[in-house]
Amino acid sequence: MSAKLVNLKINEIGREVRLFYNKTPFPDYDLQRFNTKEDLRLAAYPFAKILDQSIPEIASVIDVGTGTGQLSAFLSLRRKEVWGIDFSEGQLNKADSLKQKLGLKSWTIQKVDILDHEQVQSIGKQFDYLLCLGVLHHTGNPYDAFKNIIKLLKPNGYIALGLYNTFGRIPLNIRQFLARTVFKNNQAVKDMFIRMQIGDVEDKDRARGWWNDQYCHPHESTHTVGEALSWFKKNKIRFLECVPSLMFFDNSIMEVKGIWNTSEKTPSLFTRTVKQLQWISATNREGGYYILFGRRME
Ligand SMILES: C[S@@+](CC[C@H](N)C(=O)[O-])C[C@H]1O[C@@H](n2cnc3c(N)ncnc32)[C@H](O)[C@@H]1O
Repeated sequence: MSAKLVNLKINEIGREVRLFYNKTPFPDYDLQRFNTKEDLRLAAYPFAKILDQSIPEIASVIDVGTGTGQLSAFLSLRRKEVWGIDFSEGQLNKADSLKQKLGLKSWTIQKVDILDHEQVQSIGKQFDYLLCLGVLHHTGNPYDAFKNIIKLLKPNGYIALGLYNTFGRIPLNIRQFLARTVFKNNQAVKDMFIRMQIGDVEDKDRARGWWNDQYCHPHESTHTVGEALSWFKKNKIRFLECVPSLMFFDNSIMEVKGIWNTSEKTPSLFTRTVKQLQWISATNREGGYYILFGRRME
């Protein structure tokens, strides 16, 4: 395919993904649930709390592809400078309503397409911590986006990169196929599929958001650990750890040990292969989602 056609395809993916999120915010929440900052604190998911404990209060943070911003809003409660960037106006409008309602002054929300080098550069500053969770696999060119956003990280700054894993996502890919074909009119089966990931489906906003994101998305790609580690290496990011762990017999509890404070050995091809094969069942609930943590070396 010629470079021009490739670019057209990438732009088309971006357009569809933006339209999708404009219509179907993620993570979806009912704004009426948040009347005080305390409500935001109480609604924080366990992983958000672990991030909050692991990032020093004086650190600046940027959440790339922040969506409706529940995580970055929560992190801004204890910090002077937290940014949330995204390219979907629908997502950012919802985030902005939350910001205005709760008066979150240290939270900056900005519209940025991370595939647009100039837009990323126009931010004009670098951060101590960069989070990019569940975003790159919805872009037409994940590695180009990665190279762009890395420039937002200070030397010695820390990164968390969340991606769908090629092996771990296999069961969900099968369920997506079944939901689109055999069970397309069967709400009970669809509810069961979503329950497999988020438990009870009492919170209808959340369930609807998850359903759209996992089963109706216009574009997703999957990435092996080896591929993501090669992005790290080429951009001088030192691998620190992975969740789920890439070490054998690692039963350490993240809530206790925190993140970014251990330096694991970069896993060999053998270890990566065995672990990723295990993830086919072990990360079924997360839809094959994994997070690599690293530190910029220069
Ligand atoms: C699955 S949501 C993840 C939201 C949030 N990070 C989380 O973990 O809950 C993916 C987000 O990436 C954003 N996104 C996708 N492509 C993007 C791009 N090229 N530039 C900026 N944001 C993008 C979407 O608008 C969407 O809000």
